[in-house]
Amino acid sequence: MDTVPGELAGKVALVTGAARGLGAEVVRRMVVAGARVTAADRRVEDGTAIAVAAGARFFELDVTDAEQWRAAVDSAAGTGDGGKLDILVNNAGIIRVAPILQCEPAEFRKVVETNLVGTFLGIRAAAPLMAAGGGGSIINLCSPGGFEGTVGMPAYTSSKWGIRGLTRTAALELADSGIRVNTVVPGPMRTAMTRRRGWDDEDYARHYGATVPLRRMAEFGEVADLVIWLASDRASYCTGGDYAADGGLGAGKPAVVPPDQM
Ligand SMILES: NC(=O)c1ccc[n+]([C@@H]2O[C@H](COP(=O)([O-])OP(=O)(O)OC[C@H]3O[C@@H](n4cnc5c(N)ncnc54)[C@H](O)[C@@H]3O)[C@@H](O)[C@H]2O)c1
Repeated sequence: MDTVPGELAGKVALVTGAARGLGAEVVRRMVVAGARVTAADRRVEDGTAIAVAAGARFFELDVTDAEQWRAAVDSAAGTGDGGKLDILVNNAGIIRVAPILQCEPAEFRKVVETNLVGTFLGIRAAAPLMAAGGGGSIINLCSPGGFEGTVGMPAYTSSKWGIRGLTRTAALELADSGIRVNTVVPGPMRTAMTRRRGWDDEDYARHYGATVPLRRMAEFGEVADLVIWLASDRASYCTGGDYAADGGLGAGKPAVVPPDQM
């Protein structure tokens, strides 16, 4: 799918977790769509390189820090010059793989602090400015793990369930300010998050691709364009919802035996 040039013309956007993976692709495609984009991440070197190559700006941000959030929003919006913010993408996230009995409380807290509290802080920092400008769109990255239990990922799964509750609550509270709040639910993508030591293409196909009804992992662009659509005025009546680009995972498991052979 190709991004529609000009779809976000005149809009100002802040994207977190933008130094690599999905966030970097969202930045690239938002610039093509005509937005003025600030790419934020705690990885300064990678984030700066992505931003410069895309034609965006970079801002160093740890999403767990409320003070840094205020500065990031001010910088993205150009508040000093009476600026504005139209789009916030809460994409930064981390994962820790350990079953509950082996998961250290500090690790559990760190994942929830980054994924869920980080998203909460972003909404708190951005919403007043968006409201002052007449509205905006906030997109929070969820996961298929936000709809079911996931063995070995107690903290990540809990954080993504929490993001859905937070998204609905924010959608209700901010509707009168013209701010739409939604989640995007990606299927598995090949990023640092899904990387496992020693895996080759076949391992990815077996462990991720084969678990998806469409029988493959997602391309970044297939998910990034859904983020951009939700950010655009074409999604003007959409708020409080979950929007999936998950290859059918939300519908259930892929067929074990082809339907015509049952
Ligand atoms: N990769 C997948 O298969 C997959 C599937 C479903 C959902 N998601 C979600 O999509 C989003 C992006 O995932 P990805 O696979 O591109 O991940 P990634 O690990 O490639 O990138 C995540 C980015 O977030 C940044 N980050 C982490 N903690 C941060 C913090 N405290 N402050 C600022 N930045 C921070 C990292 O530096 C990194 O650049 C995440 O929310 C993830 O949960 C990913």
